[in-house]
Amino acid sequence: MKKGRLISFEGPDGAGKSTQIKRLEAFLEARGFPYICSREPGGTPIGEKLRELILDKRYSEMSRRTEALLYAAARAQHVDEVIRPALEEGKIVICDRFTDSSIAYQGYGRTLGEDVIRALNAFATKGLQPDLTVLLLLDPEEGMRRAEKREALDRLESEAAAFRAKVNRGYLRIAEEEPDRVIYIDAGKDIEDIAAQIRKRMEVFLEE
Ligand code: TYD
Repeated sequence: MKKGRLISFEGPDGAGKSTQIKRLEAFLEARGFPYICSREPGGTPIGEKLRELILDKRYSEMSRRTEALLYAAARAQHVDEVIRPALEEGKIVICDRFTDSSIAYQGYGRTLGEDVIRALNAFATKGLQPDLTVLLLLDPEEGMRRAEKREALDRLESEAAAFRAKVNRGYLRIAEEEPDRVIYIDAGKDIEDIAAQIRKRMEVFLEE
């Protein structure tokens, strides 16, 4: 039986997830609240091996479906070995990336589709979903302005920019679909303001 709470942090690379995770850890520590912190892909010995395999640039031939399945495999192990046991002990589990990363990156970025990835996630997690997801995202208009300001992009850069735009669209879609679970935070805001917003939301869980 699940007694703890699962909090995931999501957003594109470089949105400030790790800074905010550290802030939240300090807050929980100060309150003497039992928690663990983990990450995906990874979080277990098998997961870390899979992480090496997925992120290894030598395997450029890896197909999109293979990639999606490997993320899901790492997640299944993570849920069984680390996340569920900790939740059963009543701990707060903070996870740096979880199911929404697959929806945004594989579903939207790699265009495998949201439904396929939701089904894959459901299989990998046996239906476990985050109780709360902190989504750190630059306001899309601000992102566009920044991109336009930059010099003309070369082909690889513009491919990377197009991929990032698709991932962002995926995240925005998730935030729209599940406003109760997902707090969408403008990653361009002040670090302290963001940390305060997350703490406020955490207070609700701690009171329960
Ligand atoms: P990582 O170095 O952890 O990036 P970050 O510090 O931005 O979290 O690399 C993880 C990469 O894996 C990141 O680019 C997102 C990607 N990813 C997916 O594409 N799908 C997933 O399901 C997960 C968990 C991560």
